[in-house]
Amino acid sequence: MSEPFAPEAYGEMFDDVSQILFTAEQIQARVVAIGQQISRDYAGQNPLLVGVLKGVVPFMADLLRAITIPVEVDFMAITSYSAAARHEGMVRLEKDLEVPVNGRSLLFVEDIIDTGLTLNYLLKTLRARNPASLDVCTMFNKEKLRLIDIPLRYKGFDLPDKFVVGYGLDYREKYRNLPWVGLLKPHVFQPKS
Ligand code: IMP
Ligand code: MG
Repeated sequence: MSEPFAPEAYGEMFDDVSQILFTAEQIQARVVAIGQQISRDYAGQNPLLVGVLKGVVPFMADLLRAITIPVEVDFMAITSYSAAARHEGMVRLEKDLEVPVNGRSLLFVEDIIDTGLTLNYLLKTLRARNPASLDVCTMFNKEKLRLIDIPLRYKGFDLPDKFVVGYGLDYREKYRNLPWVGLLKPHVFQPKS
């Protein structure tokens, strides 16, 4: 038996990966550090952590348990419109939050931000509901592709402008369950040119 979370344990999916960028241990260490920081910053505020399904699920689950103060969690689900609408970051809310957010401290939790278009649209939507505060926490950040400036209060890791999978991030719905993050081999993933 290989070690729990060892890359080789993920046989078929591991075979599709050319390089591991972040190990499960590195990811967990970052998550714990971020959780501790959030626990200090939001003490006494009972913040609401907001995530967008589905990519954020592993990060949200780990982050929640690394936070040592009372928090609440809720999720939104979205679908993209046409390519043109997507350019504006416009999305359809398939599932909205279940609780009112006016006057509350909100922490928007993301798996990855690249252009920032979708996130910008969702932040605008939430801001219109008058929360006491609205900040962003992302596990992975692709600065190079950013089209809109979004202040990040908490950040796990910066990424190069490359397509990665694992820790919630998928390619055609696959690889979300990898506890580490890696690059796919060229015959598995061809970037759009
Ligand atoms: P954007 O910030 O609005 O451009 O959208 C970011 C979304 O693109 C994320 O929520 C992911 O679903 C997806 N995405 C961006 N980069 C990657 C990647 O490297 N791997 C997997 N999904 C990605
Ligand atoms: Mg996402």
